[in-house]
Amino acid sequence: MTTTQLTQLAHRLDTINQFKTNEVGQNRLVYSPTWVEAQRQVIKWGFELGFQVSVDDFGTAYLDMSGTTTSKTVIATGSHIDTVAQGGKYDGLYGVLGGLQAIENLVAKFGRPKKTLRLISFNEEEGSRFPDTFTGSKHYTGQRVDLTMKDPAGIQFDDARKHAVAELKLPGVRHELPDLPTSFTELHIEQGPRLIDGGLQIGLVTAIVGQRRYTVTVRGIANHAGTTPMNDRADALQRAVDLIVALRNAASQLKSDLTFTVGKMHVSPNTSNVIPGLVTFTIDCRNNDEAVLDQFEHLIHQIVETPSHAKISSSVNRWAESNVTHLDDQLLENNQQLVDHLGFKSVQLASGAGHDSQIMAKVTRTTMIFVPSINGISHAPEENTSEADLLHGVELLAANLHQQAY
Ligand code: GLV
Ligand code: MN
Ligand code: MN
Repeated sequence: MTTTQLTQLAHRLDTINQFKTNEVGQNRLVYSPTWVEAQRQVIKWGFELGFQVSVDDFGTAYLDMSGTTTSKTVIATGSHIDTVAQGGKYDGLYGVLGGLQAIENLVAKFGRPKKTLRLISFNEEEGSRFPDTFTGSKHYTGQRVDLTMKDPAGIQFDDARKHAVAELKLPGVRHELPDLPTSFTELHIEQGPRLIDGGLQIGLVTAIVGQRRYTVTVRGIANHAGTTPMNDRADALQRAVDLIVALRNAASQLKSDLTFTVGKMHVSPNTSNVIPGLVTFTIDCRNNDEAVLDQFEHLIHQIVETPSHAKISSSVNRWAESNVTHLDDQLLENNQQLVDHLGFKSVQLASGAGHDSQIMAKVTRTTMIFVPSINGISHAPEENTSEADLLHGVELLAANLHQQAY
């Protein structure tokens, strides 16, 4: 990859990351104004570079560089365009723009591919706005998504979806759900410390952890902070705090590598002189053993549903679940040979983050390539990867796509 190509990738990353809200970091929550701007920009670049562009009902964009033969084989790459709230510049976006760059490089060097190369910019993967994850790859692969689910402001997924997708109907865009590809390769930042700490340039992903997400609701009684005796309160926040401590202890006792995160909490009425009457908080837990997730789910129910106080009740609801996924062995082996040939230092590893690849792997041969995350940080504005490492990932992806499509 030349300096010009690197500059181009950096420029495209910057262009999208400059679609900002007033929040810190990147906030491309699905179907928000910044999300619309970003997905429109990807589509425009697609047209400029000679791709045929389709958009499906969920707003996923498919950029096809059609093959020169009659082969129906489609070799796909890509990732998601959305971010978490206050997220970073690379999670998802690097896989979209790195994929665009890899295909652009290949066409510049070798001309059109024999088999169609498809770049996919999935609408959503993070589960940051609506209570579901991977809605883009789920829709593409025929899994049901609840269109009636609502975001915290009460906006229905289906309404937000219709408005946003209408904005993507630029001249020349086909409105369709394309056939599934023959393979899918996702380029992504590692989002952990292993590559950077090991002085490695590339991670080749063997498997992706299973994850489950829950919301716990605690109902007490809102009352005056000054007049309600301490022994006669039904304080929902105090109960929530006790539950979180108990759940965290249960997780660490069950298995040391079971991750447990409470990342979101709502306190109602959330004012200093009122005892909280209602609290909700989320649980995100992950492991590479389904049995551990099953056992922890059982413990969650036991802990949350055991009554503690006559006037306080608590309940739990699971709203997202994905299984442990093993990626394609042959594509992994091919990537290993390509990376050794390119002379990059690499390791094979399992992913602790969720990816569209785990959904795609249910319907097509799927593989993933990681590049290092500086300080192992992601899902935060400090998320960063060196330009040299961004380049290594694109080079390996291009070699992979070349091997499959030319
Ligand atoms: C997605 O990035 C996830 O792993 O939460
Ligand atoms: Mn991601
Ligand atoms: Mn993410």
